Formats: sequence, C-alpha cells, structure tokens
Amino acid sequence: MNNFRFHARTDIRFGKDQITNLPKVLKKYGKNVLLVYGGGSIKKIGLYSQIIDLLKDFTIVEVAGVEPNPKITSVREGAKLCKEKNIDVVLAVGGGSCIDAAKVMAAGAFYDGDPWDLVVDSSNIEKVLPIVSVLTLAATGSEMNKNAVISNMETREKLGTGSQKFIPRVSFLDPTYLYTLPKMQTAAGTADIMSHVYEQYFQKNDGAYLSDGICESILKTCIKYCPVALENAEDYEARSNLMWASTLALNGLVCAGKGGAWTCHPIEHELSAFYDITHGVGLAIVTPSWMRYILSETTLHRFCNYARNVWNMQGEDSMELANKGIDATENFFKECGIPMKLREVGIEESAIHDMAVATTAHNDMQSCYVSLSTEDVENIIKDCF
Ligand code: NZQ
Ligand code: ZN
Repeated sequence: MNNFRFHARTDIRFGKDQITNLPKVLKKYGKNVLLVYGGGSIKKIGLYSQIIDLLKDFTIVEVAGVEPNPKITSVREGAKLCKEKNIDVVLAVGGGSCIDAAKVMAAGAFYDGDPWDLVVDSSNIEKVLPIVSVLTLAATGSEMNKNAVISNMETREKLGTGSQKFIPRVSFLDPTYLYTLPKMQTAAGTADIMSHVYEQYFQKNDGAYLSDGICESILKTCIKYCPVALENAEDYEARSNLMWASTLALNGLVCAGKGGAWTCHPIEHELSAFYDITHGVGLAIVTPSWMRYILSETTLHRFCNYARNVWNMQGEDSMELANKGIDATENFFKECGIPMKLREVGIEESAIHDMAVATTAHNDMQSCYVSLSTEDVENIIKDCF
C-alpha cells in the first residue's frame, strides 16, 4: 500500500429535511451569500423557494443558469459578483456543474486576473471563499472533493483544476432531491460514479486490499440500486445509497494506498469539449471499449477479480471470465438506457484524431493503469462507433 493523506474536511448533513439547518450553517461565515444554481430544476422541485424562505435574514446574490459542463463565462460572472457584493460564502445548489462552477467563482473572488487562469494552472488558486453545497444529483463527488471541471467553448477546452481549499465546508445530501431526476441523468450519474471507481480500482499497484474492497462495494451498490431508482424514482433506499456512493467514490477514500493517472475521464473530457455531451454518457460508452483494449495477460488478474467480486461470476478460463465481466458492464449501461455508441450522441468520426491528440496533450496518459499513446486513444475512440 502506498503512503497517503486522507483528510475528510466536509461536514456531511445526510438525510431528509437537513436543509432546515442551512441558516445555522451559513451564519458562521457571514451574511452575504452567493447562491449558484443551474437552469431551473431547483425551482421545479421547490428547493429554491424553500432556501429563499430559510435565508430571509441573509443578503442573497444569485448566479442562475450555470450550464451542464459549466462554462467559464458563468464562472466569470460569479467571480465578479463575489467582488462587487462582498460575498462571504458561496452556496451551490444543484449537480456537479453548479458545485464545480461555485468553487472557481469562490477562488475568483480573490484573483485579479481572468478566472480561466485558475483552471489552466491551479497554482494560481490562493485564497478561496468558503463553499457550502446542496446536492441534487448523485454523480461527481464534487460535494466532498477538491476538483472542479470547467469548459471554455472559445478554446474548445474542458479542463480540471483543484485545490484543498475547494473542498466544501458543509454539504447537504437529501436523497429526496433526486426523485425528480430524469431517467437519463440517473443513469448517467451512476455511470459517472462507477467510472470514478474504475479509474481508481484499475491501477498498477496491488496490496490496497481494503480500498479495492470498498471499490467493489460501491460498484455493487450502483448495480443494485440504479435499476431500482429507474423503476421507481421515489425509492428512498435506492436514492440514498446512490447518493452516498457518489460521495464516497471520489472523496479520496477509495484511492487510499493506490495511485496513478486516470484513463476514461481524460478521453471523455475531450468528447465533451468537442461536442458538449453528458459526462456520464460519454464515460459509459468509452469504458467497455477501454476495458477490452487493455485486457491482456498482465491485466487479466484484476479483470478476473472484477468479474468475480463485482458480478459474482465464476469460470475456469480466466480470459473468458474477464470478458464476461466486461460484457456485463456494457450490458448494464445499455439496460439503464444509455446510448452506447458515439454516433448516437452526435459525435462525428472525422473528429476522432483531433480528440485523441487533445487527450494526450492535456493529460499524462503514460502513468495510467496501462499507458496509452495517441494512437491507442484513437483506436479506443474508433471502437466506440
Ligand atoms: O441545470 P438544472 O436545471 O439544475 O438541471 C440539471 C442539468 O440539466 C439537471 N438536474 C440536476 N439535479 C436535478 C436535475 N433535474 C431534475 N431534478 C434534479 N434533482 O441535471 C442536469 C445535469 O446536471 P450537472 O450538474 O451538469 O450533472 P453532474 O452532476 O453529472 O455534473 C457534471 C459535471 O461535473 C464534471 C463533469 O465533467 C461535468 O462538467 N465532473 C466533476 C467532477 C468533480 N468535481 O470531481 C468529477 C467528474 O468526473 C466530472 O468530470
Ligand atoms: Zn466523472
């Protein structure tokens, strides 16, 4: 097991009606609140009016309309408001896009230049306003992690940045907020959670038995409960397990003692940068192709563990067993209703080469579980059509 640092900084308020504690939580940071939200789902579910009622003693400044795959233009607007209105705390209400955008806005409050600099180079992040989140989509883990992913449509870039100071101070996780999610967002969110686990589970180093076991549990939780939530949107048990899976999959817990760079996320970020597709959908499409591409005598034992421990499969022939696990992964995403070909989400084959070049230009693809060249990435993307 590698050395690691695990600092669980976020105060998680999990369960029904925890939101009533919001005024007490925010009061600690000050009176002026920047409320960051997306295209209106929080209004439809009644959460917006509840928050406005709860915060009647605060001064609220709003940034509405943060896009899925949040754009730097929204971040610039929020950062400017932080400065102009003397904001004390940034409150993100929504999915990962709102929380990610809120993080960079909170850093932009103290940065004199263009907030895009904070995305391109995280060493520009110095001071950051406190961030509190209210999560409405189980997917990214942004509610308890240091990452933010922002898109710049002018430069066709979708880049990740991060800072320990981005980690939300408090996050409200009420599973009932997930009841209104469209089926596709439930499925895509689950694919994202699973992909976060795959990125950390499929790594070179052995010996982190406990972390691998937690990975397998999170994957089994997704496989058990996503179909339940798709069948009955208001199944509390399913929603609560998925919500907690989202948080645990990417808060530093499951990579404890492991290491190495990620593979499918770098590829997906280029698909989104070029075609603005839903993150979890892109991941679901890329994952089985990547798994098949890297399956070899060297990686076989890990894929066999995956098939046995996650899918409860058995078999004498290791290669057959590994392939069965990969097939099960692909079928699971299909049965959740995710389109499994890139052309179904509007991506054109003519862009394959450019997306592959951008993947290896923006990321360290040499330190992945299996190192990939631009040509390898191109082959994986080709296989997704
Ligand atoms: O904008 P609104 O109207 O709120 O609608 C959203 C949006 O259209 C809707 N939605 C959210 N909660 C809802 C709801 N609709 C009905 N009922 C609810 N309760 O869902 C749509 C997608 O929301 P978004 O926030 O974009 O989804 P997600 O949470 O999947 O976030 C995706 C973004 O996070 C980045 C992705 O790349 C992408 O930009 N990631 C962030 C990471 C992190 N911070 O650690 C890691 C991830 O790997 C990922 O890269
Ligand atoms: Zn992700």
